[in-house]
Amino acid sequence: MVAVTTKPAAVDNPLREGLRMHRTADPCAVVMFGATGDLAHRKLYEAFYNLSVERRLPQGFAIVGFARRPLTDDEFRESVKESVEKYARNKPSQRPSAWNAFAQGLFYVSSDFDDAEGYTKLASKLEEVDKQRGTMGNRIFYLSTPPDFYSHIIGHLGESGLASGKSQGVSKATSVLNTGTLNPNTFFAHDGTGAAWRRIVVEKPFGHDLASAQELNRQISEVFPEDHIFRIDHYLGKETVQNILVFRFANGIFEPLWSRRYVDHVQITVAESLGVEDRASYYETAGALRDMLQNHMMELLTLVAMEPPTAFDAQSVRDEKAKVLRAVKPFATPGEVAQNTIRGQYGPGAIYGKAVPGYRQEKDIPHNSNIETYVAARFFVDNWRWAGVPFYLRHGKRLPKRDTEISIHFKAAPHALFQHTAADELEPNVLVLHIQPDEGISLNFESKLPGPSIKLRSVEMNFNYGASFGIEFADAYERLLMDAMLGDTTLFTRRDEVELMWLIATSILEGWEHIPPPTFPNYRAGSWGPAVADELIARDGRSWRRL
Ligand code: BG6
Repeated sequence: MVAVTTKPAAVDNPLREGLRMHRTADPCAVVMFGATGDLAHRKLYEAFYNLSVERRLPQGFAIVGFARRPLTDDEFRESVKESVEKYARNKPSQRPSAWNAFAQGLFYVSSDFDDAEGYTKLASKLEEVDKQRGTMGNRIFYLSTPPDFYSHIIGHLGESGLASGKSQGVSKATSVLNTGTLNPNTFFAHDGTGAAWRRIVVEKPFGHDLASAQELNRQISEVFPEDHIFRIDHYLGKETVQNILVFRFANGIFEPLWSRRYVDHVQITVAESLGVEDRASYYETAGALRDMLQNHMMELLTLVAMEPPTAFDAQSVRDEKAKVLRAVKPFATPGEVAQNTIRGQYGPGAIYGKAVPGYRQEKDIPHNSNIETYVAARFFVDNWRWAGVPFYLRHGKRLPKRDTEISIHFKAAPHALFQHTAADELEPNVLVLHIQPDEGISLNFESKLPGPSIKLRSVEMNFNYGASFGIEFADAYERLLMDAMLGDTTLFTRRDEVELMWLIATSILEGWEHIPPPTFPNYRAGSWGPAVADELIARDGRSWRRL
């Protein structure tokens, strides 16, 4: 009998080699504004804890929570522990010693966001933390509060000197300042000098429309230089989203096809089966357009449509993304908006066989709300590569399932060579980038049905991440938090990008103000959205891909 030895999985699967190559960040303290909020508890603490367990946090690390609720450091630690236990893949109960080590680095300051006194308390807490945790004066200010507080916080960070460090006795920073080797005014504006740095991470929504986004940009830029501003869009932290660039630019065979010559149209679908959940007050001020299309979906569009950057660095990548956004013309009139966009709102229905209420029946939603929970739009990217190629985007809540994908629909073969097959009967080739949940890439093509005559059948070639790499993805936030600690802005939205996205979204919002809203609800929960959305694409002789 032959003895069988089993190798560890990592050795079995050569595709996994290199997955554990990590970069190291400087020591730092993360100040979490909105420390008691939903996002921090559901996403951010778990991400930091996972990074900690996987030994990816810097040696000197601390989180200083800042929020109104009065909590001691210990109470804060306990509340973070509960959330991490609930949401993180690494549970504190599994490794109490790992949790204890992480918890030692959690601190809390209780204050209103617009109380100057609170920022003085924060400054002395941070000095204490620097000494205790070796965080060396490096700070990330993370804005995870309702957006109404952003300008207060930014203003106070500026006035208190926390953003520049000038008012504080930060050991490393002060010593370099005293040597006069750097201009104190630009001291914190540059990394790589060995000096302490100050960065700000801003959660979405980044503004409410173009004017408010511009104003927010203006306020932040008075306090932080652009390369220290991290406008976060968690879609850019998803592995499959980053892979769009790798797929396009690390392979020689796709890029030549990636243009109006061969592509008929592109569809971007972000389908969610969830409803508004307990986010009524936010969602009532947002709606599907502001919540998803203006940011996540526009990011996907730019990655699909952009030109190859000259390098994979923040400036080159974001320059190309911004160029795409500049080529998407905002709609000029309400007529154009009516022609190219659709709004929907779900009524009662069923998801996975379970009855669910309509949007207007959800908790805290007004019974006559006209907020859209579905949006579809047709855009054109007016440049040499894409002229005349429509990009159809659709997103909705309470659709039959969660599914995000980008499909590239190629033009049909030009000539019907095979008997009894008219060109219009051939299925066009479709390349699908499956963003989530079944992460992968597939390509549909025509194949001969086995048998004596030539009959065609559409078949699919598949790449699946899970099967190929055999690894569970880290949450998008882990990647982005790590990048923020490393000072790498490549996967964050630059000032011009966010404003260009708002320029487009605002043209739709303004158009909608002039067009009476459709009679809501206009789609049943558990259906694929309003019938008018099918007409939007059917008018062009096309149809939404069936998911
Ligand atoms: C958030 C939106 O930005 O993204 C939510 O506010 C949405 O409404 C969520 O559900 C979707 O994120 P993901 O990663 O689940 O696709």
